[in-house]
Amino acid sequence: MERTLSIIKPDAVAKNIIGKIVDRFESNNLRIAAMKKIKLTKEDAGKFYEVHKERPFFNDLCEYMSSGAVVVMVLEGNNAVAKNRELMGTTNPKEAAPGTIRADFAESIEANAVHGSDSLENARKEIAFFFAEREIL
Ligand code: CMP
Repeated sequence: MERTLSIIKPDAVAKNIIGKIVDRFESNNLRIAAMKKIKLTKEDAGKFYEVHKERPFFNDLCEYMSSGAVVVMVLEGNNAVAKNRELMGTTNPKEAAPGTIRADFAESIEANAVHGSDSLENARKEIAFFFAEREIL
């Protein structure tokens, strides 16, 4: 059993498709162990995406992630990290496999509907960034 962090990004929240995205997870044996809707500050986004701070898209990414509400979730299940990434599809929605969340709902590489942890180690860090242990059930 693994846990991973998922974020429904501002584009998908603005489109009112939180439920459609959550259904993808629940229909594929991932359980919502924690969930909240929040608005990040640009500083929060910068801390969360610190690994990307040298990348040319970092500033735009932080602006974007703090431009509207997001939904952060802990997903739990067998192989949750890999399963979530498979359900999301590639970062660039133009390359995402048909039927994936990003192929179906994302607008662009930046407004790409969802974020998911890329490893178990990062999942632990990202979950701890947003949730206290008592909020994960
Ligand atoms: P995410 O999985 O949340 O991790 C970092 C994010 O940076 C990524 O999704 C994209 O939304 C965003 N991003 C913007 N431009 C790029 C780019 N050129 N390459 C990779 N990620 C990008």
